[in-house]
Amino acid sequence: MTENKNKNGVLYFLNPNKKFRSDSFGLTARFLDILPKEEVGKIFNNQYMENKNSLAHLEFHKPVLLNEVVSLLAPQANERLIDATVGTGGHLLALFEKTAGRLKALAIDKNSRSLKLAQLRLSRFAKNIVFVREDFANLKTVARRAGFLEVEMILFDLGVASWQFQDENLGLSFAKDAPLDMRLSEKGSKTAFVVVNNYNRADLERVIREYGEEKEYKKIADFIIRARPIYSTKELADVVTKAKKETFPKKIHPATKVFQAIRIEVNEELSALEEGLKAALEILATGGRLAVISYHSLEDRIVKRLFLTKKREGGFLLLTKKPLQPTPQEVYINPSSRSAKLRVIKKLT
Ligand SMILES: C[S@@+](CC[C@H](N)C(=O)[O-])C[C@H]1O[C@@H](n2cnc3c(N)ncnc32)[C@H](O)[C@@H]1O
Repeated sequence: MTENKNKNGVLYFLNPNKKFRSDSFGLTARFLDILPKEEVGKIFNNQYMENKNSLAHLEFHKPVLLNEVVSLLAPQANERLIDATVGTGGHLLALFEKTAGRLKALAIDKNSRSLKLAQLRLSRFAKNIVFVREDFANLKTVARRAGFLEVEMILFDLGVASWQFQDENLGLSFAKDAPLDMRLSEKGSKTAFVVVNNYNRADLERVIREYGEEKEYKKIADFIIRARPIYSTKELADVVTKAKKETFPKKIHPATKVFQAIRIEVNEELSALEEGLKAALEILATGGRLAVISYHSLEDRIVKRLFLTKKREGGFLLLTKKPLQPTPQEVYINPSSRSAKLRVIKKLT
């Protein structure tokens, strides 16, 4: 990471080992260029003051299936849209660019850092965007309050942004040792520590079986219970690795599915998705398009089932008969896109 100043004397950082592209996929260089160092510091707890190398994670989340989302949502000038998971704003930026900024948007995220980053990144379109920190489970209320009922486009890009996985404060990854938290919103009352240490055996088994789809849920729950108290992500990853000693496939870390399961439980991700999608289908205008990108089969099943039900009931058209998936080129550039599935539905009446 090297420290530079732009022509206005603003401090910014570049990783000399990375090439930066100038399109919406890789705005890192341009984005950091426009950020005053105080803003970077505020967002990342002034970590850069102590260690500039820690800014490596400022390479923002690459928006997944970007061209597909833009072409299927097909934004037209003066339309309105809700981005229910604005993240660091990659998709929303591309949709604004497509219409030369002639959209009105409601941008929602339950994570305050995501929202701050999106606000900075989208600052040139700020007068057309209302930013709200909320859970999309409350989409209808948020949309009503912001005056965004009857909208032409709604986007859900589910899950977690790549920088959130690397954020030690969130404790989402076994790759970094961190306290067991996993809440995407500081407002959430349940942490991963509670699930891991306080859940009874039946509940812990249920979480690992249903949300991790782990065949060995009983053995894993047993190892966790016997190792209590467990304080950190690394301790948890080690316990799960021991439980799965002989059977885990070499390709993925043995704790991957258990971490996913606990994150889903902590953030109540699946019930939020059901609520959010139902609200979205209600508040779409006639002719409106709803796009959802999911990253695992539990999410995709919910989207698929709800879209098929709506189609059968009538008044909706599936714009993706089969879900769209990233091309091998996209997966090569952005490996974390590999499990993505995009489904889009249009409201006809
Ligand atoms: C994959 S990222 C979105 C990336 C974004 N499309 C972009 O281009 O930068 C998912 C975002 O959804 C947010 N999120 C996850 N669950 C949410 C929920 N229930 N309500 C609101 N935001 C949520 C996360 O905090 C994260 O910022």
